[in-house]
Amino acid sequence: MNGVELRGVTKAYSGLTVMENINLEIEDGAFLVLLGPSGCGKSTLLNMIAGLEPVTDGSIHIAGRDVTALEPDERDIAMVFQSYALYPTMSVRRNIGFGLKMRGMPKADIDNRVGEIGELLQISPLLDRKPSQLSGGQQQRVAIGRALVREPSVFLFDEPLSNLDAKLRADMRVELKRLHERLGRTIVYVTHDQIEAMTLATRVVVLDKGHIQQADTPENVYRRPANRFVASFVGAPTMNFMDGKLVQYGDGIAFDGGMGQLPMAGLPAKARDLIGQSITLGARPEHLMFDDTGVNARVLLAEPTGPDQYVRLTVAGTEVTARTGPEQQFKSGGDARIMVDGARVSLFDPQSGRAML
Ligand SMILES: Nc1ncnc2c1ncn2[C@@H]1O[C@H](COP(=O)(O)OP(=O)(O)O)[C@@H](O)[C@H]1O
Ligand SMILES: [Mg+2]
Repeated sequence: MNGVELRGVTKAYSGLTVMENINLEIEDGAFLVLLGPSGCGKSTLLNMIAGLEPVTDGSIHIAGRDVTALEPDERDIAMVFQSYALYPTMSVRRNIGFGLKMRGMPKADIDNRVGEIGELLQISPLLDRKPSQLSGGQQQRVAIGRALVREPSVFLFDEPLSNLDAKLRADMRVELKRLHERLGRTIVYVTHDQIEAMTLATRVVVLDKGHIQQADTPENVYRRPANRFVASFVGAPTMNFMDGKLVQYGDGIAFDGGMGQLPMAGLPAKARDLIGQSITLGARPEHLMFDDTGVNARVLLAEPTGPDQYVRLTVAGTEVTARTGPEQQFKSGGDARIMVDGARVSLFDPQSGRAML
């Protein structure tokens, strides 16, 4: 296999295990995003792939080679950090070319290569400046250029956009995605930002407390979360959870969580086996609909965002959020009736939090 493979990777710091038995195959050419909250182990995992942190147990393979015992510069990787880590006294040109110079590449070849990278990243006019004469976004480009110039088989990015303001972050996101499409190289990218994960990744690995919670396409992570942690970490506003049980409802199935019976048209046939059991219903805000035939709810507050609005409601004592178009007017304290799109809900085991369908 030509990508990256982690086999049984474990990491402990002074006896305290922070990553346990991580097994992961990263396909050649993938844009793999490691997503999780602060402290879940994303950087530790990336640093182990880079060779900046030794593994406590297990092995790491890059392009079919066991690199576990190799130094970072022997692994055919390049890394871009959140803090750009540019050499402050060197020009942009020298910053980008430095790695090549260290490898003994002739000056003319370095100049050519740096020129190409400058054009690719649209920083050609900046090549003779010092890092302190650049904006944050420009510095980030230089850091990316320094990684690109080495043409490694794998790029490792650790939260490269988190020091940029929102607008620039969105622009750089688009550029990174284009760059990946153009170069087709394997990227392993760490972020705590679920929007970055959803927009960039060909595959997302959701981590929590040093364990993989789900490794899947962005679409499946969103539509079919493996457990409550993934369900609530991905998606904003967050998924709604209601405790109750499934009940027979005519020929179909309804959810009963003390608000009356909420019909669940479109649930998979397997859901019949769960009738009578306690479950936690998970429904994304866009899958709650205002409908006169629905169950009673009380409006707490409507938050217009421009293209749509988030309506906070209580249903049988549980607070939920519905996402709807901007047209309808809601009054705080008013009554509403809501339905749930049964074809798009998740059902979780209330004890373990695991998805049940
Ligand atoms: N050098 C270290 N020594 C001891 N504990 C560490 C060290 N680096 C990271 N940790 C711990 O390992 C866990 C994962 O950290 P990290 O990989 O930095 O998380 P993330 O990048 O997801 O925010 C945290 O609990 C952190 O405190
Ligand atoms: Mg980190």
